[in-house]
Amino acid sequence: MKTFLTMKQLGAGLLGRGGRWLALAACGLFLASCGEEPAKTPGGAAAEAGGGAKKKQIVVGFSQIGAESGWRTANTESIQSEAKKRGIKLLFSDAQGKQENQINALRSFIAQGVDVIAFSPVIVSGWEPVLQEIKKAGIPVVLTDRAVDAKDDTLYATFIGSDFIEEGHRAGEWLAKATGGKAVIAELVGTPGAAPAIDRKKGFEEVLAKNPGMKIIKSQSGDFNRTKGKEVMEAFLKSPEAKQITALYAHNDDMALGAIQAIEEAGLKPGKDIVVVSIDGVRGAFQAMADGKLNCTVECNPLIGPQLFDAVEALLAKKTLPKRTGVMESVYEQSQAKEALPNRKY
Ligand code: AHR
Repeated sequence: MKTFLTMKQLGAGLLGRGGRWLALAACGLFLASCGEEPAKTPGGAAAEAGGGAKKKQIVVGFSQIGAESGWRTANTESIQSEAKKRGIKLLFSDAQGKQENQINALRSFIAQGVDVIAFSPVIVSGWEPVLQEIKKAGIPVVLTDRAVDAKDDTLYATFIGSDFIEEGHRAGEWLAKATGGKAVIAELVGTPGAAPAIDRKKGFEEVLAKNPGMKIIKSQSGDFNRTKGKEVMEAFLKSPEAKQITALYAHNDDMALGAIQAIEEAGLKPGKDIVVVSIDGVRGAFQAMADGKLNCTVECNPLIGPQLFDAVEALLAKKTLPKRTGVMESVYEQSQAKEALPNRKY
């Protein structure tokens, strides 16, 4: 197992607090999907301070992308459980994969006057107007997991998440080593326009540029979910180029697991006839490696709840944060799967 830590410290971008204004259009709709009840722990922000005076409870609005993958479910669980542990009130909204729903949720958080807004943006573009609204309201923003392509980096205080380009490098380097630099590759891409889809492709292709014996002959989005991953792989295997495919690179484990099913249904052996490398490191991927059907998973750690709320508390204490913080991640192969499986947390 190889372990990596990415940490880029580019300076702080704390936002000042100004007057709030209401952006109510989507609020009624949104309210149905939010409202994690806070736990009042003895040491938490909701606890009563000495002398019976109540300490103000921290309120955080979090807009999640959806529940498209095992990774996402683990990420949501990490954020919800950490908020509960710290006595932070979490207004949680599930955008069901739609940017429009995320923007509505962010406007609703402004209207409710939360202390901090956090979100994992479904795609990279189109966030400036709503981020400007949040800035005017004086609410600090923490980006988790996925970045935005906003030119003005004062529109958010900090980003916490993985280096997706590096994950693409790791997947490509593993495949180059495993195949001696010779592979005819089918690629299952993530959600179009999403940071991990763009960057994982870029990182992987940078490795291919140094390995002329490796080429991608099929590439299509499977939208980061198992059903579409299976459908797209079925189509790849019915195409005229099907017989040439020796390797599959999937931008996440869920798509790889769907594709593995398609490969088996086509009468081939995943992990042998077609070498499979993917990204995330979910338990299902470890099981597939233990079964010899997946060859490698590059870890992308979703358990960032503690880092998120450390950042929230630091921002509210007016501390300076790095503009970007990475997470600890590893690369796992079949030979490590059985031993690692019982200890996987997601
Ligand atoms: O943004 C992280 C990616 O999103 C994960 O790799 C994928 O499984 C999820 O849907």
